[in-house]
Amino acid sequence: MTEPVFPEGILTLNRSGDVPLPEQIYRGLREAVRAGLLRPGTRLPSTRRLASTLEVARNTVNTAYELLQAEGVISVRTGAAPRIAEDLFPEGLPAGTPEPPAQPGLSKRGQRLAVNLRGDGWATRHGALQPGAPALDCFPYEEWARCLRRAARLERSADLQYRNYAGVPALKLQLARHLAAERGVRAEPEQVLIISSMQAGLSLLSQALGDPGDEVWLEDPGYLGARTAFHAAGFRIRPLPTDGQGADAGSMCIGDNPPKLIYVTPSHQYPLGVRMPLARRLALLEAARTTGAVVLEDDYDSEFLFSGRPVAALYGLAGEGQVIYLGTFSKSLMPGLRIAFCVVPAALIAPLTQLMRNMGCAANVQAQAALASFMDGGAYQKHLKLIREVYRERGMMLVEALKRRLGNRIEVEPPAGNVQVALTFREPVDDVALAQEMHKAGFAVSALSGCYLGAVKTPGLIIGFAGASAAQVGEGVEVLGTLLDRFVTG
Ligand SMILES: Cc1ncc(COP(=O)(O)O)c(C=O)c1O
Repeated sequence: MTEPVFPEGILTLNRSGDVPLPEQIYRGLREAVRAGLLRPGTRLPSTRRLASTLEVARNTVNTAYELLQAEGVISVRTGAAPRIAEDLFPEGLPAGTPEPPAQPGLSKRGQRLAVNLRGDGWATRHGALQPGAPALDCFPYEEWARCLRRAARLERSADLQYRNYAGVPALKLQLARHLAAERGVRAEPEQVLIISSMQAGLSLLSQALGDPGDEVWLEDPGYLGARTAFHAAGFRIRPLPTDGQGADAGSMCIGDNPPKLIYVTPSHQYPLGVRMPLARRLALLEAARTTGAVVLEDDYDSEFLFSGRPVAALYGLAGEGQVIYLGTFSKSLMPGLRIAFCVVPAALIAPLTQLMRNMGCAANVQAQAALASFMDGGAYQKHLKLIREVYRERGMMLVEALKRRLGNRIEVEPPAGNVQVALTFREPVDDVALAQEMHKAGFAVSALSGCYLGAVKTPGLIIGFAGASAAQVGEGVEVLGTLLDRFVTG
């Protein structure tokens, strides 16, 4: 039997801090139990295995396990693997725990909703080359300011009152036109719901369409934001095998537990950046049809295609109600705008609008009105045309620099679109530790292995280029080249 390996985010050691390593391991595991990431009965790695994974002395892990055993958090029997104690509630620690809980007062649901799968420091990371970050240096601030001023003056209507929780009609209309022309998504404006981010949309739809314990299929490797939303909803996440042609739904064995939802990124798979060919799209829709699942199509950066013909969205190929289409303005404009959208079947408009009202998670009305006039006046299309070219140049610049500096130690393809690339290493590399060291040097790249759900993880880095200057690319690649040898593990 192979030994378990912890998923990313459960244990991250800070070797330069004041807290001793055994204490960090002990706290990390206790927190993971508290957050429901390690359930009662879960088998833990042996001390030898965990020590080698974390690159610490075996005694360090022994001390941490002894502390956890003394508190009744884990049970250790001679000759058997250590386990999280069977009789432990995931939300609580045994009586007499010396420290106050890290998240006082959170319910089980609250703990699931507040889980941080992206790892410490993610939200505060400010470095260059961050995956997903757009080119703020190209943003037309003056034009946008004009639209905002106009919206602030003109929107004196009832839109500013308690209404239109699922979006301002003018923006829905613009989006319905844009999606039909650019993505083959035919929908009435009412079917377009305006949300504050793709993350909000994934969370909302998960809570609305599934119940705890339901099965969901998620690309492996896949987007941590989707995994976060599904974890929060209490779903059982099944890895959907994903290769150079995107997700392969045809390879899934359906069994007794058909999925409620299937999440995919067919235009540019995240994080691999590949496009799903027609045969795979049809197989995916067929799997959705036979299981009754709803497909969540995340079209997060379909606006940026540098070469080849655009492929219409999966939504256009599907039957009524089979696919919910999601898009965001985070990459084409900016994440701080907090505007994204989804296209839902007519039957879901009313309940989802009410849900948005109940949860109070609607997007800002004046920003929506400004965006509608920004689109209507042609400024959005003009901006897309400009940044498509800028992103293409920056992507090529990054890939060429990587190839020059690292040659055949890495595999990386010139991006066909997208705002980031994923490179893989031709030798075994601890990509998590490497990414952490890159952060310290000012580069907010991500470890590719963190996107994998299953035990087999390909080490690599996800590197953003859309917002990067030539100097940042040059320096970042040089830092990577200098650091790499320290993190080769084989
Ligand atoms: C696949 C994918 N979907 C969605 C998003 C983000 O969308 P939003 O900022 O609207 O939550 C990202 C961000 O990097 C992403 O990679």
